[in-house]
Amino acid sequence: GALWVSTADGRIKGSDWQAHDDQGFRALMSRMNWIDVDASTTNGFHVEEIKVKIVRASEGRNEFFFPGFIDTHIHAPQFPNVGLFGSSTLLDWLEKYTFPVESKFGFQADQLQGKNTLPESTPASALRIYDQVVARTLSHGTTCASYFATIHVPATNALAALCHSRGQRAFIGRVCMDNPDFCPSYYKDISAEDSLSASRSTIDYIHRLDPKGVLVKPILTPRFAPTCTRAALEGLGKMAAEFNPPLHIQTHISENTNEIALVKELFPEADSYAAVYDRYDLLTKRTILAHAVHLTPEERQLVRQRDAKISHCPASNSALGSGIAPVRTFLDDGIKVGLGTDVSGGYSPSILEAVRQTCLVSRLLGHTASFKQSKTEQVQENGHADKKPSLDREKLSVEESLYLATRGGAAVVDMAADLGGFDEGMIWDAQLIELGSVQDVTQSPLSQQNNGVCSLIKSGPVGNVDLFETETWEEKIHKWVWSGDDRNVKAVWVGGRLVHSRS
Ligand code: GUN
Ligand code: FE
Repeated sequence: GALWVSTADGRIKGSDWQAHDDQGFRALMSRMNWIDVDASTTNGFHVEEIKVKIVRASEGRNEFFFPGFIDTHIHAPQFPNVGLFGSSTLLDWLEKYTFPVESKFGFQADQLQGKNTLPESTPASALRIYDQVVARTLSHGTTCASYFATIHVPATNALAALCHSRGQRAFIGRVCMDNPDFCPSYYKDISAEDSLSASRSTIDYIHRLDPKGVLVKPILTPRFAPTCTRAALEGLGKMAAEFNPPLHIQTHISENTNEIALVKELFPEADSYAAVYDRYDLLTKRTILAHAVHLTPEERQLVRQRDAKISHCPASNSALGSGIAPVRTFLDDGIKVGLGTDVSGGYSPSILEAVRQTCLVSRLLGHTASFKQSKTEQVQENGHADKKPSLDREKLSVEESLYLATRGGAAVVDMAADLGGFDEGMIWDAQLIELGSVQDVTQSPLSQQNNGVCSLIKSGPVGNVDLFETETWEEKIHKWVWSGDDRNVKAVWVGGRLVHSRS
């Protein structure tokens, strides 16, 4: 069988898992890439419930294609801090760890004095880090990422160029932070106008780099309400609407209870945190809201009305002690949800890890006091809970979490028709997963010695995934999710182009 990807647009033109027609392949090779799937294997594998189509590539070797992962929230300049957060929580974490590392992606005026360095240049270390970020995320199967960069235009543009040349689909955001009452003096935009014009120059750069936005697109990035003045928020909302189609927007919302109190203090006129963004037209169908751990029912309704999207970042929310986002509630409300690593609030660049953590924290949510209380309040207000509260209802299955990592993420970046699956007409953004082989050693001296008791021994495991002979494909997928890592990512394609292969 085979699957056909057009070299013209990287889209899936069709697949024929049954037929084995080498002549046909060769005839088409001049204008098509073809991805050979072991001829003996003819069955596709469907997880019916969530419509992720998993294609069994090769039975004997336990390999399969899976849609590329979409990381809907990641901070590229925070990679040097992966694993460093101590026992901090959001606001002191920003001050102690995050602003210092991000500030190193540009030169300060005092660093330039007497040196032959232009203010518009980028430190070599920044380029090295960004290049490693793109290589690393690709190696974990992330074919599309929505990046926060820093306030620095040259380094942000360099990140866009690196994604473009390495072939990763990316949204690139120059971070806006002009509020002198919150931002540190060593790392802030000079003014609202400066913040807007700097953002515009990154947008122009990316539009020149990739005029049709085939691979890389700009995304407006007010860091979060506390770092931005009203003038900057207003300007960004207007800027988004200037473009056709309107620009994507990303920010943080309601991650931490101290942050929420701070927003209340800084924007006393607003009814809620979400209302701050809404007032400046920053809640749109192309807006990615990271975290949303503590949204009120009214805020969820507003998010739903605007069709803004949520990036769920469970590893980060656990690491920084932010809380547990009620993903089932978001889904019940009809809000679209994708997954984010949130490096380095999150400690891992892997969306597979985010899938695991999504499953895990969903199993804890029902046990928390705040969750129980919110359900009690619901019953008191309405006489009943919207949905029957139960520990089981909150749980997200492996399949659902994988859905959020692929098709969910595609909806979050407003590319649901293009990404996240293997439907005909979708773009071939894919990873080839290898789980390793199982060998029958009935004939081996060892098993004869043991009188055949130990007749099956796995051989050639890849990474940590241990397979025996008995697993169904569903079980293999579960083992991959719970025990897999980048060692199982054999190759990665974006738009039909091979962008990573495990060496
Ligand atoms: N809120 C504002 N900035 C950040 C950041 O860099 N990471 C996280 N997790 N939350 C934020
Ligand atoms: Fe973040």
